[in-house]
Amino acid sequence: MSKIDYKAVFSKVIERRNTNSLKHDGMAERGMPEGVLPFWVADMDFEAPPEAVLAATRAAAHGIYGYSIPGKGYYEATIAWQKDRFGWEVDRDWIISTPGVVFMVASAVRALSEPGDTVMIQNPVYAVFAPVLRANDRKVVSSDLRLADGRYEIDFEDFSKTLEESGARIFLLCHPHNPIGRVWTREELRRMGEICLEHDVLVISDEIHQDFVYGDNAHIPFASVDPAFPAITVTCTAPSKTFNLAGLQASNAFAANPELRKRIRKALDACDVGLNPIAIAAAEAAYRHGAAWLEGLKEYILGNYGWLRRELAEGLPGVKPHALEATYLAWLDCSGLGLTHLELVKAFADKAKVWLNDGATFGTNGSGFMRMNLACPRATLDEGIRRIVGAFR
Ligand SMILES: Cc1ncc(COP(=O)(O)O)c(C=O)c1O
Repeated sequence: MSKIDYKAVFSKVIERRNTNSLKHDGMAERGMPEGVLPFWVADMDFEAPPEAVLAATRAAAHGIYGYSIPGKGYYEATIAWQKDRFGWEVDRDWIISTPGVVFMVASAVRALSEPGDTVMIQNPVYAVFAPVLRANDRKVVSSDLRLADGRYEIDFEDFSKTLEESGARIFLLCHPHNPIGRVWTREELRRMGEICLEHDVLVISDEIHQDFVYGDNAHIPFASVDPAFPAITVTCTAPSKTFNLAGLQASNAFAANPELRKRIRKALDACDVGLNPIAIAAAEAAYRHGAAWLEGLKEYILGNYGWLRRELAEGLPGVKPHALEATYLAWLDCSGLGLTHLELVKAFADKAKVWLNDGATFGTNGSGFMRMNLACPRATLDEGIRRIVGAFR
């Protein structure tokens, strides 16, 4: 069998403008100047694996788009993915499928806490968490991650104190952690879980980035760390980041505790939601056939990251990418540029004409950082780097 040249596959530049793309269209509505090159929202400028595209195309060509349910094959593929990649054995009964991880997180929060209750997060973290929690009438507290010698760490004393003082009912874990690109180790997961058990706090573990983990790092599902953890955990995963299927909307939650499941199902029944047939077909095909494609993709992204690091070190040492243990999102420390937060954000958009995420949107301790999406062809990344270096040098 001939080996696929993934480098060539991912190097292909595909026009995404005027495709109703959140990332590439609608710049004016979001206050971005004409002509900015987008490296913001976390989807990829790559085609999904060919098997997923074929499955989606077949489902589309069927021409009947009635109400749909994930079938046996979908669940088998989802279960096998967790087992084969992470050694995590999940039961079919644990799975609750929804059209998105944020949808699931919000539903679980509504099901497992009351309006006015507190949820703890760890800033800087995925910018959608806090507003969604607040929109669901929950209070938000953060046990901020701490920078020690250029690496983010959990301050366990603060973690425990913040849970205790806030009376939080739920801890929303981001694992691996977006935007800082950390993979939590077994020991870190264990300590967080033990503290949550001690304080009677439930854990929603958002593991959407689980498939983008590099080098010697390994993704360990939070619920698998200790036999006591499944009882307090809802784990959220999806093929959407992994295979670039976000627009199709399919995700899965795993809850081993039947009581938690019952409460979540009740909350979901309150809005009667299901998956669409194209998403089901594409997700199953991707989980069944996408492993080699994913390995090729990870290699390509690591290549992009290495390239970014080298180019910045040479051309703009005031901008330093943090180590990329996971995700396809580079976390750039821009403090060396000596600009205020506003000057920095404005200069990236107006002067460099690139669209990155403002680090402060992930929490106030993200100020001075920018997040850059590396899931694009090298030529696109190159143009982005050229613009950034040119603007700030
Ligand atoms: C940590 C995290 N959770 C959830 C999402 C979005 O998931 P979904 O599109 O399935 O709601 C993202 C997207 O970037 C993310 O980074």
